[in-house]
Amino acid sequence: MILLSNIEQKTLRSFLGEYNVEFVVRRFEPSDTKSLANLEKECFSRPWSEESLLTEFSKRNSFCFVAISLQNSKIIGYIGCYCVLDECYITNLAVSSLVRGQGVGSTLVEKVLKEAMQRNFAFVTLEVRASNIVAINLYKRLGFKEQGMRKAYYSNPTEDAILMTKFFRCGE
Ligand SMILES: CC(C)(COP(=O)(O)OP(=O)(O)OC[C@H]1O[C@@H](n2cnc3c(N)ncnc32)[C@H](O)[C@@H]1OP(=O)(O)O)[C@@H](O)C(=O)NCCC(=O)NCCS
Repeated sequence: MILLSNIEQKTLRSFLGEYNVEFVVRRFEPSDTKSLANLEKECFSRPWSEESLLTEFSKRNSFCFVAISLQNSKIIGYIGCYCVLDECYITNLAVSSLVRGQGVGSTLVEKVLKEAMQRNFAFVTLEVRASNIVAINLYKRLGFKEQGMRKAYYSNPTEDAILMTKFFRCGE
């Protein structure tokens, strides 16, 4: 059996024509806020407001990447993080339902992992709804491990959170 890396799998899929959305990833700009708020409304039962998104991603210890469709220049996904010392917390990840399953979410998470490695972070961590199998599998595929659970962490509907972490340093 031949095992392919994530990048090789993606290249093979795009070669086979499985991915039909073409996009670029760049850093967040304040003028992106409205599109991010619209994505939040589309994806979450408790969406972040425009104001909270702008406040969060303007902070010095936060960073955010957006994925932009090359077909229509629209924002189709984004990922947001904040950092404490050498720890990186993914706070938001959302991809438009129109383009899911085409590698946008994985590319955004990989971008954060690359940034975290460049900045010599110890780990990247996040919480995810226990029922969100698509997201859990995506994180596992990119090397995150389940670290624990927060009981009834989410509301609307009430649900446990799974804590998932990817460590970069040996022995952790
Ligand atoms: C989770 C989420 C960000 C994934 O984004 P995405 O662009 O679809 O992610 P990818 O295409 O990179 O990977 C999705 C994987 O799930 C698989 N998948 C299975 N069922 C799927 C479905 N119904 N929709 C999309 N992907 C599905 C895809 O095939 C892919 O796996 P593969 O790469 O092994 O083929 C997106 O579904 C989303 O925004 N969901 C709502 C918000 C959310 O749950 N955010 C995460 C909070 S922690």
